[in-house]
Order: sequence, then C-alpha cells, then structure tokens
Amino acid sequence: MKWPAHGANPQYLFEALQISMPDQKIDFSANINPLGPPGILKENWHQLFDVISEYPDPKGNQLKKKLARNEGIDECQLLIGNGGAEIISLIGRMLAGKRVVIVQPAFSEYEEACRINGCSIDYYQLEPDSWEWQEGITAKLKKADALFFCNPSNPTGVFYPRTLVLDLIKACEKNDCLMIVDEAFYDFLIDYESIVPYIGPYPNLLIIRSMTKMFAIPGLRLGYLIAAPPVIEKLSDLQPQWSINALALKAGEWCLESESHMSKTRGMIKQERKRLFAFYKENGFLFSPSQINFYLLKDPALKDQLPLFQFLIERGIIPRHTMNFPGLRGEWLRFAIKGSEDNSRLMGAIEEWRSSHL
Ligand SMILES: Cc1ncc(COP(=O)(O)O)c(C=O)c1O
Repeated sequence: MKWPAHGANPQYLFEALQISMPDQKIDFSANINPLGPPGILKENWHQLFDVISEYPDPKGNQLKKKLARNEGIDECQLLIGNGGAEIISLIGRMLAGKRVVIVQPAFSEYEEACRINGCSIDYYQLEPDSWEWQEGITAKLKKADALFFCNPSNPTGVFYPRTLVLDLIKACEKNDCLMIVDEAFYDFLIDYESIVPYIGPYPNLLIIRSMTKMFAIPGLRLGYLIAAPPVIEKLSDLQPQWSINALALKAGEWCLESESHMSKTRGMIKQERKRLFAFYKENGFLFSPSQINFYLLKDPALKDQLPLFQFLIERGIIPRHTMNFPGLRGEWLRFAIKGSEDNSRLMGAIEEWRSSHL
C-alpha cells in the first residue's frame, strides 16, 4: 500500500486503505487553526470579487510592506510565496546538486524538494522518542551546503530554544553552510522569541513562515521567507511570475490585523493541549512534549500503531500516519489539536480502545 505523502485531503487515505469514507468524520491529520479564519476575512470577503479581474502585484508590495513593518525588517529581506511549500520548493531549486542535511523527523517536503533537484541528502536524527539534540552535528556540517531545521518541529510539536538555534546558525556560518529554519508553526507558541534579528548579522540564515495554519487559509496558499537580500533576489528570479494570487495577497493583509484572533487561538490550544495530555497520562499513552497545535501519540503496548490507526479510522477519526517520517516508521500517530468537542470525541474513542485492548 502507498501511504499519502501528507495529512489533509482524507479521500486519498481512504482510497489507499480501500475503504469507503464515512459521512461523519473528524480530520485530525491537518494542523489548521480550529477556530477557522479570522472574522475580518469573512466580513470583507465580498471585496475580493473585484480583485480577480486584474493581475496580482507580482511583488506583493502591499503585503510585503505590512510584513516588513511587523517584523522590523526591510522589504528587500522578504519574499512572499504561494504557501511555505513554494518557498521550500524554490530553496530546493537554489540548492540543486548541493549537499544538504535534514534534521529528522521533519516535514517531508524538504527532502522531496532536494531530491528532485539532485542534492545529496544526509540526515541528522534527533534522539528517538525524546527528540533531544545529540552530539555529532558539527561533523555533518563540515560536509554540507545547507541544513534544514523545522522549529517548532513538525511532526513532534517540540520547540527548541533560541540559544540552540543561534549555536546552529554560528556552526553553519563557520562551515559556509546555509541554515534554513522552518517556522511554519511559530505563531502557535505562547513564548516565542524571534530569531529574525539574526538575519542582519548572519546572511546564511533563511526563515520560512506559513500563513495557512494560524489563519486557516490552506486553500488560499500564503507564506513567506525572511533572508538576506542576495538570497531573496536569487529565489525571486526562480519564482514564476504572479505566483501568489490577488485573493491571497489581500487576505494576507487582513490576517495581519487579527492579533486578537491569534491570541485567542493560542489560549484555546494551550487549554485543550493540557486537557488532552492529562487524559493521555492517566490512560498510559505516550505523547511528544508539544508546545503547539499538534502532537505525536502512541500506545506503548504496540510497536506499530497501525491497529490503533485502523480502530480510529473505522470510527471516522482521522489521525496522520507517520510512515514517511524518517525515524518514526509508523511507531507514532500525529493528531492536530482541534476544538473542545472534537478533542472529546477523540478521547472517547481512545478510551474505548483502551478498555477493549487492556
Ligand atoms: C513544517 C511545514 N512547513 C511548511 C509547510 C507548508 O505550508 P503551506 O504551504 O500551507 O504554507 C507545512 C505544511 O504542512 C509544514 O508542516
């Protein structure tokens, strides 16, 4: 069986499993804000009809201006992308034929983007099950042109402190290596300390951001890169003209005005995470020490979590498999943190599993 490469679009999972998709289902495989898009988007949605009859600004200058102001950087340090995924794909093209190291387990698109561009790929594996850093990165950096690091991590939700990231940036710089930090989920953190100020002193640093998760707009596609101007220019040359559509550009501007939606989301996710983790602890499940809106889970009685996966799927509860995360091999399941009712449904199903599999 060929497992789908990503979460979301559950029809492909059911197709692969050769079972019909139930009418009632809850998708825990996509890590999207359960509160949905900010209200400002719904209120102003009708205005978007007018923008579709003109070509979008290929530079996205209006949105860029607002992002630059928010981040305290210059517009020439920013590139807007058709989702963080486009930025990753462009970086892959820029790195064609080079040697890259990917901190694993990680989002599979880094490897995919590098593989199709003929890069040689090495892994740096985090400590299994605790996901702590081990020794040995320096030796790998000596032979690398770029390091990919997802922080907070997808799939674990673990957040690594700024001091660790800075040490890595410095180690990369010493070895003439780019340091690519994917911060797609940074805005779900309560205590985020920005690494953006390192962009000036460390031109080897690239920071990827996504706007599709916090603002629940994966269907619109929007992300950006913060990096030194020469890197931005190189990637901009590789980007197709008008890559970001006019709706996404305008919606992005509105999203940046929705600070209260963001803080409400963070508070709600924190509360639900606490409730879920207390439940798992009480019922003898293991989970990753996530600080954001998704986490890994396992029943320690099982090595391969497939039976639990199937049990949940049959009840219309859709986890994310971990077959294509190097180092996880299906020994964990990933779940998004959703609204209270959905999380309670998940806990109910897990309780049912526990009582029938003691
Ligand atoms: C770690 C990480 N980075 C980047 C992306 C791409 O996000 P998008 O293209 O939706 O902005 C994803 C999507 O799941 C992700 O998990």
